Amino acid sequence: MRILAFEGTAHTVGVSIIENSNILINLKHSYTTQQPEGMLPRDVAEHHASLIKELTLKALEKSSMSMKDIDVIAYSAGPGLGAPLQVIKTFAYVISRKNSLTLYPIHHSFAHLIIANYTADVDDALYIYVSGGNTQLIVLKDNLYPIVYGETEDIALGNALDKLARELGFGFPGGKYIEEYAKKANKFLEMPYTVKGMDLSYSGLLTYALKLKGKEKVEDICYGFQEHAFAMLMEVVERALSYTQKSQVVLTGGVALNQRLQNMLKEMAEDRGVRYKKVDNEYLGDNAAMIGVAAWHLYKHNISPIKADAIFSKPRWRIEQHLEW
Ligand SMILES: Nc1ncnc2c1ncn2[C@@H]1O[C@H](COP(=O)(O)OP(=O)(O)OP(=O)(O)O)[C@@H](O)[C@H]1O
Ligand SMILES: [Mg+2]
Repeated sequence: MRILAFEGTAHTVGVSIIENSNILINLKHSYTTQQPEGMLPRDVAEHHASLIKELTLKALEKSSMSMKDIDVIAYSAGPGLGAPLQVIKTFAYVISRKNSLTLYPIHHSFAHLIIANYTADVDDALYIYVSGGNTQLIVLKDNLYPIVYGETEDIALGNALDKLARELGFGFPGGKYIEEYAKKANKFLEMPYTVKGMDLSYSGLLTYALKLKGKEKVEDICYGFQEHAFAMLMEVVERALSYTQKSQVVLTGGVALNQRLQNMLKEMAEDRGVRYKKVDNEYLGDNAAMIGVAAWHLYKHNISPIKADAIFSKPRWRIEQHLEW
């Protein structure tokens, strides 16, 4: 089965073609900005609208296919920013109507997990999903039903990194700049550490770090923030591993690109005899391949696609409800 997949819930617009579980092509383009307000939904929507057709034509051309070779469409239906979601939904609708194809509405976060199964040999993992909008520890029951064991009570780790970066004048997205600056630190700054049972809170840490602006070196602020934020995460991950008895652990989402975070988790997993699984960088941040692979996964589990007229998008959508269409 050949799937044409679209992603566009936030900053990245992507188009991918999947043949069964094989990723034939994965194209993407990310919106970045230096403006002080950060990412504005209408600008992101415009970015996606100006690129999605061109990316689709390129994906077909590069894999020597035409729309006649495609069997089904997959699109990111949410959660995400309303305006970019509308762009993706409209494009998916038009293309499915024009070619009489059905569609798989894919939950973006579920796709971030499932890509690990198909590209990193994951089958019994505690998933640590750390991204711009989410920080969650998840287990999949029967490979289909997510159970959230812990999560942030306020802002997501990626969002906290982006906000700190913006205030320090780095632009959006900022996680990679924080990582670079943290490497050059030479002083460890004590900061608030907030873990509540299996949940985390990053807003106090962020507020504290922001107040240090102008008083401490940027490098040291970045380093202190990262060390505290990641140590908090490690504490709940360790508890979740002990509770769930999972044999594997895997990081997914854009923040998983952080080398320091990867190393911390790897070390902790190895100490506990848990296998650390690594998803290729190409599939960590937002991408359309994960949307296509998730559609293949649903198809394999006998879940049928929907007709064009039933298309929808949901800006707010809990992962536990990913099959509520
Ligand atoms: N090297 C890095 N270190 C830390 N964070 C990083 C790094 N590279 C990217 N990020 C962060 O990853 C986030 C983007 O991840 P992703 O593309 O999965 O997010 P998203 O789609 O916006 O969020 P969600 O999946 O929750 O909808 C941004 O917050 C960005 O700053
Ligand atoms: Mg994402």
